Amino acid sequence: MLREVTVTRYVEPLRVGGSVPGVVEADDLGTYVVKFTGSAQGRKALVAEVIVGELARALGLRFPELVLAHFDPAIAEHEPHQEVRELHGASAGVNLGMDYLPGAKDFTPEVAKACRVAPLEAGRIIWLDALTVNVDRTVHSSNLMIWPTLGIAPPRLWLIDHGAALVFHHRWDASDPTKAYDFRHHALGHCTPDVRAADVELAPKVTEELLRRIAAEVPDAWLTTEDGFTSPDEVRDAYVRYLSARVRASAAWLPTDFPTREELAAEEALRAARTQRGRPDWLKRVPDLHGKPAAEQDWSVHLG
Ligand SMILES: Nc1ncnc2c1ncn2[C@@H]1O[C@H](COP(=O)(O)OP(=O)(O)O)[C@@H](O)[C@H]1O
Ligand SMILES: [Mg+2]
Repeated sequence: MLREVTVTRYVEPLRVGGSVPGVVEADDLGTYVVKFTGSAQGRKALVAEVIVGELARALGLRFPELVLAHFDPAIAEHEPHQEVRELHGASAGVNLGMDYLPGAKDFTPEVAKACRVAPLEAGRIIWLDALTVNVDRTVHSSNLMIWPTLGIAPPRLWLIDHGAALVFHHRWDASDPTKAYDFRHHALGHCTPDVRAADVELAPKVTEELLRRIAAEVPDAWLTTEDGFTSPDEVRDAYVRYLSARVRASAAWLPTDFPTREELAAEEALRAARTQRGRPDWLKRVPDLHGKPAAEQDWSVHLG
């Protein structure tokens, strides 16, 4: 089961992504990134975080520990932004904490350009994303981090943020376990990912028993309001059935046709030219920085 901790100090909000998680300290002396139940993404995002994250861990991928974090909004009263305080106010009780990786760097397009992630590691991550229909591990929003970065050990690739996975849970009645997804812009698509080898290795590990064990980690409170279901266990069962059926149907969704870096660059250039054509003359002189990150040290040479 996920460990439970109580938040003892609110440090700061993380505004990079959309859900405004908070960095906190807890009564076990740990530091965590907390995703709040009151965020616009809602409880389903937290359910996806638990199911996909724990599946990643069970398959041997690097993923920080998750904890159930008891949070009293009074502890973050000093937060200066009204909208963040409102988010906290709507999140009293159990939220989701992820072990904070101190000094970790986002895996940006700049890092990815010199990418040397091994084909099998890239294949395993893409395979997990395809299985769990994760639409948020793209070139521009990788939800991958490099850690550690201070030379104490070789830097490695870590998975974070699976809140946008399991998209089928937004429309259970239309969910199709054989559905293929477009992974052309996956953050690791240009690393010659070996998804076929990953499929052979990982598919037999995703047993119904494993899925049931993982679904049991999701707190009842995040499953009680699901339309069309009468109990949390019924919802858990739906996740297990969908993912069991999908893993058996991998031939239907295995993403194999990844564009090369050159093809992606050509696509991007075409898109930029189209944007440029639609601009008035004065705006044409403003550089198009879409998707271009700040310069950053290349950590990827150490990845393996
Ligand atoms: N466990 C972690 N350790 C260190 N930094 C993190 C961790 N989790 C998230 N971050 C930082 O916070 C940012 C936003 O987190 P993320 O989980 O992607 O939230 P969102 O749902 O807002 O996209 C990440 O891009 C990363 O920079
Ligand atoms: Mg994110």
